[in-house]
Amino acid sequence: MKIITAKDYSNMSEIAASTILERVKQSSKITLGLATGGTPVKTYNYLINDYKNNKTSYQHVVTFNLDEYTGMKPTNPNSYHYYMEKNLFEHIDIPNNQTHLPNGAADDFELECKTYEQKIAEHNGVDLQILGLGSNGHIGFNEPGTAFDTRTHIVDLSSATRKANARYFDNIDEVPTQAITMGIATILESKEILLLVSGERKSRALEKLLHGEIDTSFPASILNQHKNVTIIADNEALKYVD
Ligand code: F6R
Repeated sequence: MKIITAKDYSNMSEIAASTILERVKQSSKITLGLATGGTPVKTYNYLINDYKNNKTSYQHVVTFNLDEYTGMKPTNPNSYHYYMEKNLFEHIDIPNNQTHLPNGAADDFELECKTYEQKIAEHNGVDLQILGLGSNGHIGFNEPGTAFDTRTHIVDLSSATRKANARYFDNIDEVPTQAITMGIATILESKEILLLVSGERKSRALEKLLHGEIDTSFPASILNQHKNVTIIADNEALKYVD
């Protein structure tokens, strides 16, 4: 894995955004895998600013998000659909029908998972996947213990993840207990992966990813077996890494 050291969160975001922009400009057609959460917010800000200033077009870009809470309509402000609209999509020229997230309000979740997986395959998989890192090692919502060969599926969120995400809700009881997530095998089929890691809060997880065993108890560890992963991490996140 290639590691790029960033000074701080802002610098990490700037490097991530310029990598994404480079790929978007290079290709006549590209499929991006996108993440939500706190980590990529500023990266998306940089993309929005670039769009305002340089008009980099996203007409040829298709996106697939990693995950969505179940039981949430796209209009719910806590849904990842809503997050993506507000933090990126509504500010750039990407056509609506080229952005995809799992439907957390689907009637049949099994069917939704299958359909999502099929749509990704129809686009020949993800070209560039953006990932954040859970403190417990999750990627997407693939929690510790998830098999490495999983496809898009329904997960029970761990209490650690629900606690970490409670900051976006009025109280922890409102955090959904389940989500739909791309599987680990789906993520690993991406041709290129950018893992963004910022802050002391993630430093132990990053240490474990780089120095620990490859094991399902720490899902992100499997990234060590992917051929094209770049970690963009800031100094605080790298504090336990030599
Ligand atoms: C979000 C996602 C999660 C987050 C992870 C880190 O779509 O799939 O794996 O990337 O929980 O979250 P933050 O960035 O909020 O620390």
